[in-house]
Amino acid sequence: MNIAVFASHGGSDLQAIIDGCKGGQIDAKVAVVISNNANSMALKRAEREKISHYYLSVKQLGTEEVLAEEILKALEKYSIDMIFLAGYMRMLHVSILDRYHNRIFNIHPALLPKFGGKGMYGMNVHNAVIEAKERESGVTIHRVNAEYDSGEIVAQTIVPVLNNDTAEILAARVLEREHEFLVEVISDIVEGKIQLG
Ligand code: GRF
Repeated sequence: MNIAVFASHGGSDLQAIIDGCKGGQIDAKVAVVISNNANSMALKRAEREKISHYYLSVKQLGTEEVLAEEILKALEKYSIDMIFLAGYMRMLHVSILDRYHNRIFNIHPALLPKFGGKGMYGMNVHNAVIEAKERESGVTIHRVNAEYDSGEIVAQTIVPVLNNDTAEILAARVLEREHEFLVEVISDIVEGKIQLG
């Protein structure tokens, strides 16, 4: 199975997926990495791992439609079976959602449906969890549709919020869990325990 990973920034989740494939916990390969940020660590990681990678953005290509066409070309070229959004800060064009219906997943650093939706990304999520005095946060992996964070939830894991947590401390604990959980869930997808298509 060929996986495409989309990432905008650090790419530590991308790295966890690559390592899971290299280590044999995931029986698949990261065939291509796509980023909308030319300077992202995610692209540098792909380069280091000798994985094909593309910087594709509206800024560079002019319109959402051309961006979608270029993304689709790259996905076709590497015969992609599954797309994983791992910190990708853009909505995907409907043509991509249609073409890869049910085969696109996103990881969100909280227990959806709480703390999701437009604007709920990065530290905004963890700040909101701390402000709401939640005792539990977690990680959600869900299918991607045309609305932020609202596609079918395929897997969740709980991460405790401890008494003196700041949003930064919580963020680090959640991210660490993401790295293990991604490997578990992607392996379930590859093995057919979570259906594609
Ligand atoms: C993670 O918290 C993920 O849940 C969110 O973006 C972050 C990605 O971190 N969607 P990194 O760029 O993989 O280090």
